[in-house]
Amino acid sequence: MSETILTANGITKLFPGVTALDNVDFDLKKGEVHILVGENGAGKSTLAKVLLGAYIPEGGEIKLEGQPVSLKSAKDGLAHGIAAVYQEFTLVPYLNVSQNIFLNREPKNKVGLVDHKKMEKDAAELLKSLNCDYIDVKAYVKTLSVAEQQMVEIAKALSFKPKILVFDEPTATLSEREVESLFERIHKLKKDGIGIIYVSHRMQEFHYIGDRITVLRDGKKIGTVGINEVSDSGLVSMMVGRDISQVFKRTPNQYKGEVLRTEGLCDKAGRVKDISIVLNKGEIVGLAGLVGAGRTEFARLIFGIDSASKGKIYVNGEEIHSHSPVTVVKKGLGMVCEDRKRHGLALKDSVAWNIMAVSLKKHFPKHIISQKKMIKIAEEYKEKLRIATPDVYRECRFLSGGNQQKVVLAKWLSADADILIFDEPTRGIDVGAKMEIYALMDELTQQGKSILMISSEMPEILGMSDRIYVMREGRIVNECARSEFSADDIGAYMLGIGGGKHGA
Ligand SMILES: Nc1ncnc2c1ncn2[C@@H]1O[C@H](COP(=O)(O)OP(=O)(O)OP(=O)(O)O)[C@@H](O)[C@H]1O
Ligand SMILES: [Mg+2]
Repeated sequence: MSETILTANGITKLFPGVTALDNVDFDLKKGEVHILVGENGAGKSTLAKVLLGAYIPEGGEIKLEGQPVSLKSAKDGLAHGIAAVYQEFTLVPYLNVSQNIFLNREPKNKVGLVDHKKMEKDAAELLKSLNCDYIDVKAYVKTLSVAEQQMVEIAKALSFKPKILVFDEPTATLSEREVESLFERIHKLKKDGIGIIYVSHRMQEFHYIGDRITVLRDGKKIGTVGINEVSDSGLVSMMVGRDISQVFKRTPNQYKGEVLRTEGLCDKAGRVKDISIVLNKGEIVGLAGLVGAGRTEFARLIFGIDSASKGKIYVNGEEIHSHSPVTVVKKGLGMVCEDRKRHGLALKDSVAWNIMAVSLKKHFPKHIISQKKMIKIAEEYKEKLRIATPDVYRECRFLSGGNQQKVVLAKWLSADADILIFDEPTRGIDVGAKMEIYALMDELTQQGKSILMISSEMPEILGMSDRIYVMREGRIVNECARSEFSADDIGAYMLGIGGGKHGA
């Protein structure tokens, strides 16, 4: 099956001050997965949105099955058989799963009322085809985890029975188990002749599902290559336009003494069970586990977002009682959240305001805010983290996904927090920027800062941690030092098939 289903020629898309796409050509064949890669802000999501109708380009032509089309909206795109799973969430939190999947397309019964039974049955079938029968179709979306919500988004896209499917970083919020289910489904869709456009930063996925890769850089197309025609390092240099040697950097630290300790910590919902950990000065401690293992819930207890039902938390040797995010920030804690849209950023505020959000007091102790100084500080972080935005006045919602994540990081760096909790810190961040963040983490620990890092990416956990705790079903099931790391062992503990000292 090599029939071309979509061709785009000379696509140009402009935003104020940015040429997001500059004369880009792209084509998609039936039954293929065409991967789009490039650094944060390269134009991947923009191209995807142009192809599915959500953005109208300033220049260029799109043909569907040989016929020129001019799509006016995403709805128009859907009518032409193009469905999408967006990088940002689109579900309605206060509707249930089946209502979300069939929103505005609810099946009706004989008297014209919504046929809830049929809707729920159809939703359940879609989820089953994704190996997600554990998601209750009657559950409100707001009660689902981020990963579960993502699977619902995918089920929704499938419900349109599209000819073309666009996935924009679908696996960024999924754990390995769900990723596998998704890939299994993608292989079936390919067999059915569906064309798939797939945006991702995860190189380990490309060989597994991809057929061709198109690389974008600064809005320009650098090239399209067959999946077997290019090495990983070749691909990276196409993306970043420079050679990159070492991914992980970890300098042994010289500090002593503990900065954070929990003893027998439990939460009210029973998702965190009796957790005792220690974080030392200058240390990076990895918290490994599958999505749903309770790692985020645990971090929320430490940060005072939720309150513990049992157990103790010590910061610098001092027990903290009935704390809240405000009081822990004063004690030098910072947290980069997993779900930046909901907890990490004020999307309608500027990059500069967001960067300064928790450190205004520190920089302006007399409560007189100097706009000039604020902009200068924000610009330093823009440089340091290579945040792609024309200026720091821009509202965060106009930044690409990865660049928003960098703003959240900048916020805590500018606050000069001593104990940082990073929940999936490099999610959605491109290879080049990832390495910069790893180097930065290493630098921070050399300054005596300590990092508790939750990550579902095994290479990241192994590459950066000094020590690892593995969590499963709310409990710590294993602890190991850097010298004892093995991906197989840690994976086994995550899945509950490991043995050894902590039992599993
Ligand atoms: N609605 C918008 N308004 C203004 N500028 C935008 C808008 N959408 C995207 N941009 C800009 O266009 C450029 C390309 O953004 P795009 O979201 O396509 O990047 P991306 O390759 O998907 O990046 P990421 O990997 O971070 O998701 C960026 O500089 C971004 O700031
Ligand atoms: Mg994007």
